[in-house]
Amino acid sequence: RSQEHIRNFCIIAHIDHGKSTLADRLLESTGTVDNRGKKTQMLDDLALEQQRGITIKARAVAMRYKRDGVEYELNLIDTPGHVDFQYEVSRSLACCEGALLLVDAFQGVEAQTVANAFAAMEHDLTIVPVINKIDLTHARPDEVAEEMMNSLGTDPDECKRVSAKTGEGVATLLDAIVDSVPAPTGDPDAVLQAMVFDSNYDDFRGAITYIRVMQGTVRKGQKIKFLRAGSTHDVVELGQFAPSRVPCDELVAGQVGYLICNIKSLGDVHIGDTISIAGNDPAPALPGYDRPKRMVYCGLFPSDGQDFSELRDALERLAVNDPSFEFEPETSDALGFGFRCGFLGLLHMEIVQQRLEQESDIDLVQTAPNVTYEITDKRGETKNIHKPQDVPDPGDIEKFCQPIVRCNVIVPEEYIGPVMKLCQERRGIQKGHEVLGASRAMLTYDIPLAEVIYDLHDRIKSCTRGYGTLDYEMVGYEEADLCRLDILVNGNRVDALSVVCHRADADRRGRAVAKKLKSEIERHMFEVAVQAAIGSRVIARETVPAMRKNVTAKCYGGDITRKRKLLQKQKEGKKRMKAVGNVEISQKAFMAVLTDG
Ligand code: GTP
Repeated sequence: RSQEHIRNFCIIAHIDHGKSTLADRLLESTGTVDNRGKKTQMLDDLALEQQRGITIKARAVAMRYKRDGVEYELNLIDTPGHVDFQYEVSRSLACCEGALLLVDAFQGVEAQTVANAFAAMEHDLTIVPVINKIDLTHARPDEVAEEMMNSLGTDPDECKRVSAKTGEGVATLLDAIVDSVPAPTGDPDAVLQAMVFDSNYDDFRGAITYIRVMQGTVRKGQKIKFLRAGSTHDVVELGQFAPSRVPCDELVAGQVGYLICNIKSLGDVHIGDTISIAGNDPAPALPGYDRPKRMVYCGLFPSDGQDFSELRDALERLAVNDPSFEFEPETSDALGFGFRCGFLGLLHMEIVQQRLEQESDIDLVQTAPNVTYEITDKRGETKNIHKPQDVPDPGDIEKFCQPIVRCNVIVPEEYIGPVMKLCQERRGIQKGHEVLGASRAMLTYDIPLAEVIYDLHDRIKSCTRGYGTLDYEMVGYEEADLCRLDILVNGNRVDALSVVCHRADADRRGRAVAKKLKSEIERHMFEVAVQAAIGSRVIARETVPAMRKNVTAKCYGGDITRKRKLLQKQKEGKKRMKAVGNVEISQKAFMAVLTDG
């Protein structure tokens, strides 16, 4: 097949706008899967992804499409839609010449759509605007086309109108892909230069590397080199997904496919790396390589009575599958041995936690998430700090910097006021306000990441009745008036409960956290004092009174099944507990420090 018959494209869409459904329909219309053999939503195959309804990992499927006697190879490259996976999105885009920009005919343009559409334009992709779900009775395609024009500059006349559900318009869309998306370029006879845009792990075959060949040809049995990683490998198998693996003998410039090379850990395959020949004159490395940046950290500790080494094994198993997750041993005075883990973002953190619990049956105690700070001490030395308890005492700090992100929020007009108020409360600085259509606007704010990760997304959802959407990108580090807030339980500082907050908020936060902890810590046989302090200054104190009577006393001796139930319940409640000194603290209490009153 010559290059002029290849089209590489991706679908950019907000969550739930119908990307997976449309992908299924394209696979069906091209006969790549038949109706009977169809598993719904072929592209999201990880069970958890289906559960969460979010495409986590980018994948690629090759389809054959015949028109006027000519067969085209259409490669659909799946891109993750969530902000946490922005770097993977950018690598997927770099493999495509075109993007379907899919917008729900009722919901309209959302923040992630805008962010990803701009990213596609930066990569010079041809944009094919598509309005989906035109079968809905309350669809408003004309207004949505106008919104797309105002926010993304697309021509309303060029918008393809489809229903991924009924299949209406899908045939026209296939023609549009062939007609508007440019064919790839690249010389099949040049020195091999291919980009790694994704990888996943197969228990039997090891790492599966997804590549786009930019120049030259890669063949079975060839010796190749990963330029950034510096490792060489033999190509054991190569091919394309259609949608299951179909091996072939070579992939040429312009094609998208997979390689299998006996690589035992995903940690050895770097997304964005360049593959070339193993010999003396490899092609230059492709630009744009970047290591995934961990933005959010938290501590993971086994609950009382659970095994540290079990947790370590589980984390190691997980890291084989997910190279963007990192962990290292950590010791806490309060929690003992555990791990400090780094994630791309909050969603990534949640996914890792869920997988740990589902796949390994381990009870975890997780500490409150925090961002990475840059602190310069009095001697002029600058360090990255991944945990609040490592923040030096106030007297030793020369400069305290925190990460700032640029947030785009798209909201219906009537909720602009509440969203602006919320962003201001989170120390946001307004950078823009654009009108998108008759009734929607995009607000842009620079906000400290720490103020975003806790719950900004949830808060925006709740103050806009679910209609507001948020997207953000890293801007850089800025100095701020921050301090470490410590929590003392019966006079002992609990290192795992320390947080970093703005000095102006410290008093309010301290009081709120002490109060919350009081309600989360169960009564003991003795009084428990909870204090919040900055350095040596105590700013709040609460007391958990001593327990008065035994819980089973409630049962009046009579009903033994009821008593058993109560004891069982107590035992379950014991899970996810940690004894700090002689005080038992529950998982919920460790998250209480996120309360901002
Ligand atoms: P994520 O995988 O979570 O990113 O979502 P997605 O964008 O892939 O959306 P998905 O395909 O899962 O569709 C979301 C919901 O919209 C599902 O309930 C679909 O059945 C529904 N849906 C998709 N396309 C259409 C359509 O054309 N018409 C109607 N009525 N519903 C649709």
